[in-house]
Amino acid sequence: MPLTRRRLLAGSAAIPFLGTVPGQAATPAEILTAQAALVQIAPPEYPKTGVWAYDDQVPGRTLRYRQGDMVDVRLMNGLDQPTTVHWHGLRLPNAMDGVPGMTQPPVAAGSSFDYRFEARDAGTFWYHPHSNSLEQVSRGLAGVLIIDEPDHPDVDADEVIVLDDWRMTEEAQIHDSFDNRHDLSHAGRLGNYITVNGRSEAVYDVESGQRLRLRLINTATARIFDLRVRGLRAWIVALDGMPLPAPVETTEVVIAPAQRVDLFVDVIAEAGEEAILGSVERDGTYALAGFRVSGSSAAARPAPVALPPNTLPEVRLDSARTVPLRMEGGAMRGLPDGAVWKGNRMDMRELAMMDQFWAFNGMAGMTDEPLVDAGLGETVRIPITNDTAFPHAMHLHGMHFREVRADGTFGPWRDTLLVNSGQTREIAFVAENPGSWMFHCHMLSHQMAGMMNWIRVT
Ligand code: C2O
Ligand code: CU
Repeated sequence: MPLTRRRLLAGSAAIPFLGTVPGQAATPAEILTAQAALVQIAPPEYPKTGVWAYDDQVPGRTLRYRQGDMVDVRLMNGLDQPTTVHWHGLRLPNAMDGVPGMTQPPVAAGSSFDYRFEARDAGTFWYHPHSNSLEQVSRGLAGVLIIDEPDHPDVDADEVIVLDDWRMTEEAQIHDSFDNRHDLSHAGRLGNYITVNGRSEAVYDVESGQRLRLRLINTATARIFDLRVRGLRAWIVALDGMPLPAPVETTEVVIAPAQRVDLFVDVIAEAGEEAILGSVERDGTYALAGFRVSGSSAAARPAPVALPPNTLPEVRLDSARTVPLRMEGGAMRGLPDGAVWKGNRMDMRELAMMDQFWAFNGMAGMTDEPLVDAGLGETVRIPITNDTAFPHAMHLHGMHFREVRADGTFGPWRDTLLVNSGQTREIAFVAENPGSWMFHCHMLSHQMAGMMNWIRVT
């Protein structure tokens, strides 16, 4: 990997800072400025799109650290409304989690906030605001955070593939329909324009026989991507930043909002043949990433080995506490018994007037008391029942969980789980990280319209 300035700064954290006045923060190595910008997202025949971006890029620039480094980032707020940065999927101290009013004060327009925490787990993560999230993320605020393993895995290239979904006007401007009640009560703010790394398609030049690491990140606020590979032999090596115990070969990848999938792919297409990562849409499969294959294949590589595991706690079901979560509401099913919102019981019509369409255990939106009050180190099981007509991507902050399958075995470690309509899927986690942690649907229209709660660990 080339030694960039950023890498040098991040890698030199062990050298004490010089010239720092005690009590005054050193200048962080990285500054992210959330601000309005004009970016060419649409094809060249369209005008630039007015976005909200970190600096002037969509997605924001990829922050990269080595496992064990200090992440040290100043957020400058150049927007005209409060914002924060949430570091999605990272196990970090609660005060660095970026939830305004819960873990930190909102960062007012024109002010800044310093985030500093250890890059504990190696993997693929991302960052986005947690303030007016639906609008801020939809307008372009999102970026990738990579934490490298101490030893680089044996791949010929390491590529970030950020999938996003935009709702644009015919002039390629962002449609400002953020409080559209149809979206809030249906599948969320689905867009009409899909991007890969902020462009309509990504193209990579590769050689037949090469092995690539593809880090897929879904930053869309609602769209679930159903992906296929062609001309590539693919293995899933990590989900939501956490390595699988062994690579799993696949030709299909479903990635819900906020999820990450790390793939190793071997280019099996020969020079001139097609190799793509495609998205299955109603009327066909569209290439999101195209690989232009040249060269002749080197000797076939042996099957890949697992990435080194992160240190995660052991989930012990025998002593666990179970707190069921029932999701209800939305179009088609509604909230026939109403729900409690901000301490008041309301019927469905009153809730709709407050833009609330969904409930967790009969409660819409944040509550004074958490869904779970866990003791530090306690294991918690949450069977999640989706009694709605839509899929939901449930995300827990600050800790990863495992799915407990019907036969009692564990699924992979994740921070975001897709629960389809009618399913009950159980998660279990060790309450290892003290603090107040959001637990919400990452379809951000649903989060805003009732699907959020929290878990306290003390
Ligand atoms: Cu990716 Cu609560 O967030
Ligand atoms: Cu949802």
